Amino acid sequence: MNRRYRKTIIAGNWKMNKTATEGKVLLDEIKASVGKAKWCEIVACVPAVDIPMAVKALKDSRIAVGAQNLHYEPSGAYTGEISASMLKDLGVKYVIIGHSERRQYFGETDVTVNKKVHAALEAGLHPIVCVGESLEQREMGITNDLISVQVKSAICGVPADKIRRIVFAYEPIWAIGTGKTATSEQANEVCEHIRTIIRKQFGARTARAVTIQYGGSMNAKNAHDLLAQPDVDGGLIGGASLKSADFVTIVNAANQE
Ligand code: 13P
Repeated sequence: MNRRYRKTIIAGNWKMNKTATEGKVLLDEIKASVGKAKWCEIVACVPAVDIPMAVKALKDSRIAVGAQNLHYEPSGAYTGEISASMLKDLGVKYVIIGHSERRQYFGETDVTVNKKVHAALEAGLHPIVCVGESLEQREMGITNDLISVQVKSAICGVPADKIRRIVFAYEPIWAIGTGKTATSEQANEVCEHIRTIIRKQFGARTARAVTIQYGGSMNAKNAHDLLAQPDVDGGLIGGASLKSADFVTIVNAANQE
């Protein structure tokens, strides 16, 4: 982390968990225990149908609401889809784009990720763009090449002044939901690589202002060490975000110099 230059963001990705009724209980618990966590931004990326509940429950709190996906078209005949302006209108601030589960199960590609990033920025949302390699790709030694392609295509055509509004999340696929975490050094190495890509394209000032999270089995035990890395500016947390005590411990782990 480097709080002097950029925001630290701890975001929970609930995935397809918690009904609105169950989610309200979790958010009330988190809200009651994070207190005045001024050292980081806290986000709850809830299922789409939980959003109205979350916005209401988190009104007057320091916790922002995020969505997990959007459609890139502004409106039209796309049955079952949700547009960026619909999310914005509800009071959503962040939206996860290109999560590996969406790439794997729902045919999301670098091209659709790019369209979604544009749509989110256009509507005034902050995209959380997920990138990450599979175990096979890591073992082939092509992690950085792959991350470069994912990052460059996600931000293709985005003007320089909007880059800082994007949050990047490095999520190695082999670490998601497996209990297997990247070492702090591995996590930092790729986060640093992402910052280098931004620096080469947009310069040092923009690169140092961009928040780059790590995601993949981040939990109450390993969060402190991961967040102590200079280029890891927060976490995108799946499983551990569903337990208020664990999530709050991670938020507190971000309170370090
Ligand atoms: P886990 O924390 O459950 O590994 O999930 C990480 C993730 O995919 C967050 O988006």
